[in-house]
Amino acid sequence: MLRVSTEEKLKKCITGACKMVLVKSIRMGDTVLVTGGTGYIGSHTVVELQQKGYEVIIIDNLSNSYENVVDSIEKITGIRPGFEQIDLCDKLSLDDFFNKHQNITSAIHFAALKAVGESVEKPLLYYYNNITGLINLLICMIKYKVNNLVFSSSCTVYGQPEILPVSEKSPVLKPLSPYGNTKQIAEEIITDTSGKSKIKGILLRYFNPIGAHSSALIGELPIGVPNNLVPFITQTAIGKRECLNVFGNDYNTPDGTCIRDYIHVVDIAKAHVIALERLLSEKNESGIEIFNLGTGKGNSVLEIINTYQKVTCNKLNYRIVPRRPGDIEKIYADTALANNVLGWKAEKTLEDMILSAWNWELSLLNN
Ligand code: NAD
Ligand code: WQD
Repeated sequence: MLRVSTEEKLKKCITGACKMVLVKSIRMGDTVLVTGGTGYIGSHTVVELQQKGYEVIIIDNLSNSYENVVDSIEKITGIRPGFEQIDLCDKLSLDDFFNKHQNITSAIHFAALKAVGESVEKPLLYYYNNITGLINLLICMIKYKVNNLVFSSSCTVYGQPEILPVSEKSPVLKPLSPYGNTKQIAEEIITDTSGKSKIKGILLRYFNPIGAHSSALIGELPIGVPNNLVPFITQTAIGKRECLNVFGNDYNTPDGTCIRDYIHVVDIAKAHVIALERLLSEKNESGIEIFNLGTGKGNSVLEIINTYQKVTCNKLNYRIVPRRPGDIEKIYADTALANNVLGWKAEKTLEDMILSAWNWELSLLNN
């Protein structure tokens, strides 16, 4: 039924009834479930999937995103993805969903709560949402024979590594927050489940995703005061915040501020399509594979601020304040495995990342 609906949607595009997009081939039968698909990274991934011809169905409970993201995805790609507002913790609704959509062959699982500070305040909310949601998803995947899973993990599992750049072989350290712990536990749950079922998984450990789609139709929408650096920069620059606090300039780094591996969200999204294709074409070398998604380059907080000022020609109001508790000093990825085995490489520059984040912030002025 869904295959027909894709053909109809494409026909609509070709006759110009909706904004045209070039979809070279439709991958019949490869319907992909994207959980958390109206969120920041999920929405960019849905765009990339559709542009590669995949049929996509999103599940999201809209706890941290809006349904109109589906409209924006349609504007970009010319194709409206399927969408159902379902909470992954609602086991019965999830089962009904899988029962209704038996053409799903794979899942990309983004849906999770992700605010580190909030997870310290509300650990049970984080363990309940992130772990229950994953378990319910895996139960349905086994029951309905959906065997391919791409999972959003995080560099947070490495803590402060002793050796940089950090590779997938680096030790996973005791997590600094309940959020980080949900990622470690989730990796273990998926690995154990894969060992006892037909599920094959690729666990992608993202470093620091920033930026937005070049259309400025989708991007990051932090609710309330942003915790992350780049949304705080753009919100300060646009006047929503008075001043950016730079948390510490007394670290053991060249300019004293912390170093991270910032990566464009579109590069991250493309890695998901490649990971999915690896599973679908059975090129994976083991039941579970893990890849770092970063650029391999570290940038300091001051370098990010300077890049913002350079690409936008705006001056940013900032001040140095004491360190933020729990921050690690520096981390950046060893990307050799992702480059050589997954066949993916980050392409976009830091300037691309910051400018796209700024264009997205500007676009929000009109909404
Ligand atoms: P996001 O909050 O923008 O997207 C997550 C989406 O999941 C939201 O739309 C939310 O409404 C939905 N969701 C949450 N719980 C749900 C549930 N129980 N049922 C259904 N939907 C639910 O976050 P994001 O930045 O796009 O992150 C996506 C994934 O990547 C998350 O798993 C996150 O932990 C992981 N990750 C993010 C970053 C980052 O810096 N953004 C870094 C590493 C890993
Ligand atoms: C980056 C740098 C701050 C805000 C967090 C999560 C991690 C991952 C990504 C999901 C740090 C500094 C920040 C500000 C600042 N998410 N900063 N002023 O801390 O690397 O990682 O998001 O898995 O789990 O912990 O990212 O963007 O918060 O901070 O000076 O107002 O910017 O101290 O050095 P972080 P971030």
